[in-house]
Amino acid sequence: FEVLWDAGAADKGGWSSFMAKEVSEEPEAVANTLRGRSHDGVVTIPELEGLDDLFAGINRVIIVACGTASYAGMTAKYAFEQWTRIPVEVELAHEFRYRDPVIGPSTLVVSISQSGETMDTLMAVKFAREGGAKTVSICNTQGATIPRESDAIVYTHAGPEVAVASTKAFVAQITALYLLALHVSQVRGSQSKLAIADALRELEAIPAKISQILEREQAHIEQFAGWMADTRSVLFLGRHVGYPIALEGALKLKEISYIHAEGFAAGELKHGPIALIEPGQPVFVIVPSPRESAEMHKKVVSSIQEIRARGARVIVVAEEGDAAVLPYADEVLRIPLAGRLYEPLLAVVPLHIFAMGLATAKGLDVDQPRNLAKSVTVE
Ligand code: G6P
Repeated sequence: FEVLWDAGAADKGGWSSFMAKEVSEEPEAVANTLRGRSHDGVVTIPELEGLDDLFAGINRVIIVACGTASYAGMTAKYAFEQWTRIPVEVELAHEFRYRDPVIGPSTLVVSISQSGETMDTLMAVKFAREGGAKTVSICNTQGATIPRESDAIVYTHAGPEVAVASTKAFVAQITALYLLALHVSQVRGSQSKLAIADALRELEAIPAKISQILEREQAHIEQFAGWMADTRSVLFLGRHVGYPIALEGALKLKEISYIHAEGFAAGELKHGPIALIEPGQPVFVIVPSPRESAEMHKKVVSSIQEIRARGARVIVVAEEGDAAVLPYADEVLRIPLAGRLYEPLLAVVPLHIFAMGLATAKGLDVDQPRNLAKSVTVE
């Protein structure tokens, strides 16, 4: 008789790793972050009540964060600007605090941190406050230091994240940032009621679409990641909201599989990265929806043709039904249809699965990668 149970395994809820469990929780991370924050097509974030004057009085937004959280910020910049018409910059927290940024009472500094304890992000928030800026924190940990230092907090409800590499917190961060942007649009009247209700509907449809990816694609992606266990370098290309997703795909691979990986804006290809393409080089391409933007889709497909012609092994992340990519793709990872701003919440899921599958195939500890800490509380 053998006891097949230990405390660690129990915490993992039967999953082989915390990361596997946390990727499986991406649908709930989005759903729980949305829960209770809208009513009949109106954004209602209790934490932001009474702050209308703050949001009415800003003319600039600076998003500060580190690591994966900074890519959530880069992703949300597109929606934030489109909906609020306020200019948004995204800056790494450690870069922001060591320069002399132009900030003041009409600047809103939005910090993003899963742990709420990252020293560089905390110092950036303090620095912003000293400069007179308003601060909102997006955080996954109740009562953490960064939210305590901020004027307002929008919590992500991803649940505790244990694996060092962030996954479910990332999709929750984008969701919370979108809610914040919609809230600001509502306060300032920069979007119609109809547009806000539509955006909320799109967000509410995301959890089921992520579940669909996990159900339909996970086994296929893991198998194909296993075949790539000997790969030494992987490139990721994306455009518009696909660009930060390319960066996140590359970061996840570096973090847990120790493979050299780089993300590029697809439009930069001819300005350098194309020189890296040699026969057999794996390149992931995040393909935008042809329904949402025919022009951007055409441009990305032509980037694919360029790299394919030079022998790249092309893996595309494309929406269901996009047949234009088929002639040039070695692998196709499908995501359900969504509006352009919502695509990143789907496109990132296959990349998280891929990084995890590849690291697992290499026999690595996906939860505790070498040299990295879950929360970097030193400078
Ligand atoms: C560390 C972790 C990353 C995380 C980053 C920011 O580097 O390994 O996974 O993205 O910190 O952490 P935070 O808690 O501030 O989101």
